[in-house]
Amino acid sequence: MKKIGERPHGHPRPLASIETKEALRLDSGLAEFNRVLGGGVMKGSVALLAGEPGIGKSTLMLQLAAGIGGAGRVLYISGEESPAQIRLRADRLGLRSSRIEVFSETELSAILRVCESVKPIVVILDSIQTVYSEDIGSVPGTVNQIKLCTQELIDWAKSHGAALFLVGHVTKEGYIAGPKVVEHMVDTVLYFDSGSAEIRILHCAKNRFGSVDEIGIFEMGEQGLRQVDNPASVFLSHRTGEQPPGVAVAPVYEGSRILLVEIQSLVVPAKGGISRVFSERIDSARVSRVAAVLEKHLKVRLSDQDIYVNVGGGMRIGEVGIDLPLCLSLYSARINQPIPAKTAVVGEISLAGEVRPVGHLDRRIKAVQEMGFSRLISPHPKEQKAQLPELCSPVSSLAEAARAGFQP
Ligand code: TYD
Ligand code: MG
Repeated sequence: MKKIGERPHGHPRPLASIETKEALRLDSGLAEFNRVLGGGVMKGSVALLAGEPGIGKSTLMLQLAAGIGGAGRVLYISGEESPAQIRLRADRLGLRSSRIEVFSETELSAILRVCESVKPIVVILDSIQTVYSEDIGSVPGTVNQIKLCTQELIDWAKSHGAALFLVGHVTKEGYIAGPKVVEHMVDTVLYFDSGSAEIRILHCAKNRFGSVDEIGIFEMGEQGLRQVDNPASVFLSHRTGEQPPGVAVAPVYEGSRILLVEIQSLVVPAKGGISRVFSERIDSARVSRVAAVLEKHLKVRLSDQDIYVNVGGGMRIGEVGIDLPLCLSLYSARINQPIPAKTAVVGEISLAGEVRPVGHLDRRIKAVQEMGFSRLISPHPKEQKAQLPELCSPVSSLAEAARAGFQP
C-alpha cells in the first residue's frame, strides 16, 4: 500500500508546469507544411496524406523525410517503389540525408519488425493500400486489411512516440474502400490537391492538434515541390487589358492569409426551361441564394438560366466575403458586360440585398493594393469612423454595388 505523501503513478500537476504542445512538435523543414499542421509535426501523432495518384504525395513525403528536424532516424517504407527508385527521386530532388532509411515491404509483421529495430522518430508508409497482414489473407487494399494494418501501425507509433505518416491514394470520384475508412483512427487528415497546372494545395480535413483552416501552397517543378512564399496572386490569371464578362476578382481570407482569386460565371438559357447550378468550388446552395438575391434586387432574370461557376486556380472557397464578387460575376455574365480591369470586389450580402461588412477589410485592401489593383468595391467598414483609402468604393446595397461595378 502507498503511504500518504508518496506520489502515486498518476497525479494532477499544476497547469503551468505541463510541457506545451509546441515543445512536442518537430519542424517539418517545410514552412507551408508546418502551417497546415498548426506549427509542425506532433511527436507520436498519426497523419493520413490523401491525394490522387501522381499529385506528388511521395515527393512531398521524401522532402519531409529529408528536412524534418529533431534527432533520430527517419524510416521511409514503400510498397510501391524499389529503394533504387526512391534513391533516384532523392537525387533528382537534390536531397542528401543520411538519416533516411529506406525499406520496400508490404507485409505488416516485417514492417513492424523493422520499425522495432530502427526505432525511427518518423515513419512514412507509402502507401497504406499496399500493406497487408498475413493474419487476414494476402490481398492488400481491402477495407479489413487497411483498418487492421493502420491500427497496428498506430499502436506501434503511439507507444514509441514516433510520428507516423500514412499515404493514401484517392481518385476523383471520391474514395470508397480506400483510406476514408481510417480517417476516424488517425489524428490528422491531410489532402493534397492540384490547383492550376503546377500548383499543389495541401489542406487539413481533420486535426486533433490545431485548426483546419490553414492551407499550404506548393509548386511542382523539376526539383520537386517548392513552397510558394507569396501566394496572394498565384490563383490569378494575370490578364492584360479588359477582362471578359463574368469575371470578378476577390480578396478572400483563407486560413490566416489573403489570397486573390478569380470567380468566373457563365449564364446560358436553361435547357428544358429548368435552371440548374453547376459549381464545384463554391457551394451550389450559396450560388443559388446569391442568384435569387440578384434576381430580386437587380431585376435580372436568372431562373430560366443554367449557371456555371468556377474559381480560377482550383481553390475551394467557403468564406462569406465571396458573396458580393460572386453576385457581380453572375450579373456581369448575365448582362454580358465586363467588370472593369483592375477592379476587385468583396462583401457579404443579405437576403434583403444589403452589403454586409467583412472581417479583415484592412488586410484585404492592402493585398489588393499590393497586387496593383486600382479599385476595391467593398462594404463600409465595421467601425463607422474608420477611413478607407481612395481605392475603395464602399457600397451598402446591391444596387449601389452594381452601379459601382460597371463604371470604368
Ligand atoms: P509523385 O510524388 O510520385 O506522386 P504520388 O506519390 O502522389 O503518386 O509525383 C508524381 C509526379 O510529379 C510525376 O508526374 C512527376 C512529377 N514530378 C515533378 O514534376 N518533379 C519532381 O521533382 C518529381 C520528383 C516529380
Ligand atoms: Mg507515390
